Amino acid sequence: MIVRRTRGLFSWMLALPVLFAGGLWSLGAAAQETVSFKEDVLPVLELRCLECHLPDGAGYEASGLDLRTYEGLMKGTKHGPVVTPGRAFESNLIAVIDQRTDSQLWMPHNRKQMSKCERLLLRFWINQGAKDN
Ligand code: HEC
Repeated sequence: MIVRRTRGLFSWMLALPVLFAGGLWSLGAAAQETVSFKEDVLPVLELRCLECHLPDGAGYEASGLDLRTYEGLMKGTKHGPVVTPGRAFESNLIAVIDQRTDSQLWMPHNRKQMSKCERLLLRFWINQGAKDN
């Protein structure tokens, strides 16, 4: 009985690093995939941002940022672009969702932070050139 239980534990100790490596591998593979604006990015913006970033919405009225379309996103706020193609880290869009700004600008405003997965998607899309694909 004890032997069997020990063996079970031992095989888990072997299995865990394998599972972990597999997880890392699939994360790497995901990074290689092309992110689509229409199929990946826009649905996330619609879900997490459109409540406020369309005409008459609080975010649009305060900043001028209209997130209904690719053109609106690329135009940015009344102060200028929030996306720098190829440079996610320098893009304001990523700074506000990753909470690297003054907390008043964290987005979505007064809402739960986006998941790591949602944020990575936007980051990959920008680093892949922020295309209208
Ligand atoms: C509940 C309303 C609300 C939601 C949801 C929301 N925003 Fe905003 N957003 C605002 C408001 C209000 C401002 C103006 C903030 C200010 O200037 O103090 C703003 C401003 C911004 C700005 C400009 C920041 C700057 O540098 O001036 C960006 C970029 C932005 N939002 C992106 C987003 C993104 C991306 C999402 C979705 C993940 C989102 N917002 C969701 C209300 C919202």
